[in-house]
Amino acid sequence: MITRRQASTGMLASAAFAATPAIAATLELKPLDLPPPRSEGGKPLTAALKLRRSTREYSNRPLPVQVLSDLLWAAFGVNRPSGDRTAPYWRHVMVMDIYVATADGVWLYEPKAHTLLPHSKDDIRAETGLQAFVATAPLNLVYVAHGERMKDISPDERRLYASVDTGFIGQNVYLFCASEGLATVFRGAVDTPKLARTLRLPDQQFVTFAQTVGYPLA
Ligand SMILES: Cc1cc2nc3c(=O)[nH]c(=O)nc-3n(C[C@H](O)[C@H](O)[C@H](O)COP(=O)(O)O)c2cc1C
Repeated sequence: MITRRQASTGMLASAAFAATPAIAATLELKPLDLPPPRSEGGKPLTAALKLRRSTREYSNRPLPVQVLSDLLWAAFGVNRPSGDRTAPYWRHVMVMDIYVATADGVWLYEPKAHTLLPHSKDDIRAETGLQAFVATAPLNLVYVAHGERMKDISPDERRLYASVDTGFIGQNVYLFCASEGLATVFRGAVDTPKLARTLRLPDQQFVTFAQTVGYPLA
């Protein structure tokens, strides 16, 4: 079991976020409690807005686990006692999941516990998009919608509202990355049916978009 202290002291920071095969094996079996997200620091919003941009060249430098924690919280973490999130969402129905694809495997972000649940030990980064950099960037976020939770609307409306939910999350990621000196790009060039099969998603769940995150190539 990896403790918060171990995680926050950077033990996981030397690969995508798993330092050694032994730790990776542990992560395959158990959820990873992320260190608590930092609630201070970062650039003023106007400075982050000035820096926001899409980047398509990435260093293979890994993200420290504290940065991953902060990133996921900014993306769609719980920011109030009600359990609501850093991004707005359709009709107060929680539809979106974020999968985290790294060299070490795939994880599902569980915002309530601020935990990563192991999903697969496979490196599926190359399948998260149609552009070459996705295969080597340290992190690709895959946005997945639970269509079955969107009642009484058409498939087109499901796709529309899930895409809007995703866009808000994506912009949170853009602004966090701008604030932290990270590189990112939101991506629609994804073979979404194929990626859904790779992720073994149930029938009603579907991939909306993906987003690469890493350090810029120096
Ligand atoms: C819905 C959507 C889909 C996008 N899909 C891709 C994509 O597949 N690949 C890519 O490199 N950029 C993609 N982008 C990023 C845009 O190309 C980029 O935001 C735009 O060119 C403006 O550049 P900027 O973000 O640096 O301001 C997408 C952006 C949006 C909003």
